Amino acid sequence: ASLEAWHARYIAESAARAGAAVIRDRVDKAHTVETKGTNDFVTEADKAAQDAIVQVLRRSFPNDTILAEEQDDAVGSIADVSGRRWIIDPIDGTTNFMHGIPPYAVSIALQQDDAIVAAVVFNVPHDRLYAAVKGGGATCNGEPLAVNNADTLPEAVIATGFPYQRVAHTEVFLDVLGALLPKARGIRRHGAASIDLVRVAEGAYGAYYETGLKPWDVAAGALIVREAGGRVTTVGGSGGLHPLFDAQTVATNGRLHETMQDALAPLQHIHA
Ligand code: IPD
Ligand code: CA
Ligand code: CA
Ligand code: CA
Repeated sequence: ASLEAWHARYIAESAARAGAAVIRDRVDKAHTVETKGTNDFVTEADKAAQDAIVQVLRRSFPNDTILAEEQDDAVGSIADVSGRRWIIDPIDGTTNFMHGIPPYAVSIALQQDDAIVAAVVFNVPHDRLYAAVKGGGATCNGEPLAVNNADTLPEAVIATGFPYQRVAHTEVFLDVLGALLPKARGIRRHGAASIDLVRVAEGAYGAYYETGLKPWDVAAGALIVREAGGRVTTVGGSGGLHPLFDAQTVATNGRLHETMQDALAPLQHIHA
């Protein structure tokens, strides 16, 4: 792991803590809610947390590019990849936050060309800070993380997220879920993709999959899973495609990857 990546991880942690302070300050207040799309909301807290995060990053890295969910034309800028770029989700799990349901998180990743080199996911209500540096391992509150060693679905609890983009997607999703339900030990839906990923990294879940994701949902969590010994790819992909820019993501402890890919095969043909 490079010194630059360790430095980035350190600054990302202070940016995440600055964002979390803003979120905590607003958690018990009434929220201004805007609707971006079906079941897709943004509150004043998302924007204020994003401003606080960006301010900290800019102080140390004035020349880096920033891709943050609540910035203007975030979706349009996703594909501009070259050099150093920070990928930020100021509140991952906005619906949970709005309704007082834990968890929700601040997610911050540093992308260097086509790799994520540093990552922080901060579970705000539970005060758990997950971090990773490429080639340098993953930690939670400073303790090393490792995926679990479940080999089969009956040994594994699996996390997912429910799609709300299109009805056709929902139907395929429900078929896949219906087939997995009797096979896996259990299925969970947290409501924050970054948390689902770090829960794979710390061995709680054997696997996580979701469709319709954006880079800010998965960039940081994906590095944390990999550095904890797990695997993250696109659905149907072996890792050749850059999972960051594909909306269908599957993360596992590694041992379950092929089993999950088989179970998720019908989702391959869905595009976000
Ligand atoms: C959402 C959460 C949710 C997932 C959605 C995401 P947001 O992020 O991660 O778990 O199911 O796909 O959009 O909008 O709360 O940042
Ligand atoms: Ca959102
Ligand atoms: Ca998100
Ligand atoms: Ca968000």
